[in-house]
Amino acid sequence: MTLQRQKVVLVGDGAVGSSYAFAMAQQGLAEEFVIVDVFKERTEGDAMDLEDAQAFTAPKNIYSGDYNDAGDADLVVITAGAPQKPGETRLELVDKNMKIMKSIIDPLMASGFDGIILVAANPVDVLTYAAQKFSGLPTSRVFGSGTSLDTARLRAALGKKFNVDPRSVDAYILGEHGDSEFANFDEATIGGRPVKVFAEEAGITDADLDQILYETAHKAYEIINRKGATFYGIATALMRISKAILRNENAVLPVGAYMQGEYGLNDIYIGTPAVINNQGVASVIETPLSEKELKQMSDSATTLKKVAEDAFA
Ligand code: NAI
Ligand code: 2OP
Repeated sequence: MTLQRQKVVLVGDGAVGSSYAFAMAQQGLAEEFVIVDVFKERTEGDAMDLEDAQAFTAPKNIYSGDYNDAGDADLVVITAGAPQKPGETRLELVDKNMKIMKSIIDPLMASGFDGIILVAANPVDVLTYAAQKFSGLPTSRVFGSGTSLDTARLRAALGKKFNVDPRSVDAYILGEHGDSEFANFDEATIGGRPVKVFAEEAGITDADLDQILYETAHKAYEIINRKGATFYGIATALMRISKAILRNENAVLPVGAYMQGEYGLNDIYIGTPAVINNQGVASVIETPLSEKELKQMSDSATTLKKVAEDAFA
């Protein structure tokens, strides 16, 4: 029996990409890990630096490469693209990052690549849509980090508020990874008990919950104002999604998945829980939403559709 080696290609070795590479190395995930970037020297330096870490973790083959290395890859993770400047929205990045996405997908597909693409570059929902259209790969095998980071932020905030481990909080941020996102407070639970009941007992009002949502949705701006970029949170989220793929976990994770009727939406990538395994998005979980939340989902989708339509026009 031959054991299959798992191969991951990272495209974009900036703050997010290099942090993701570090997280993957720490977890000992993917026996072969290729780093691609227009800034070639940086990828060589990072591969050498990560090689030094291997004596303390698990040995693997980490190297600087190019798109020719992607032909037999299981997973390509795209973090290449301009990040926001202070005050800039994610949606304002669309024109420049769409061009970068095209310049990546063309040589990637020319390599014969036939695996899974995971996109993190912003605006992630629109760029994931672009990656799928440019690549022609099945929608289940092209998906985005979506609201994974936002959900992590929400769970951390609720965990702090109710003094429980964030991993025990079953709450989601849905919709755009961006300003129109929203929380499923009406259905969120901790240990099967509604978050709204915990909130009522603690004297936390709906206005307080709205403030938690506001702070969650604006946390990226606060971090960017202080250190210029966000990278550890998203890098860890990408590692977690990669692990679910490489280990065929069937894990339920928030991602940016393609809609085919779920939430009344079609032909759009948007943040939702989904089952993730070695086929990519095995299924979308259309989590129940209240009437108000369904309207928020629809409004968020309208925002994203408009940006995608303008970008493709
Ligand atoms: P960065 O500027 O540190 O790194 C971007 C990298 O992309 C650079 O190394 C650059 O050389 C490379 N690059 C540019 N054009 C390329 C091309 N055509 N081919 C290959 N590589 C290319 O930026 P950072 O902070 O790493 O952010 C990367 C992207 O991730 C941004 O769009 C940012 O908004 C996004 N992001 C997404 C998050 C999410 O939750 N989805 C969270 C944080 C950042
Ligand atoms: C974040 O939410 C900027 O999209 C990035 O941290």
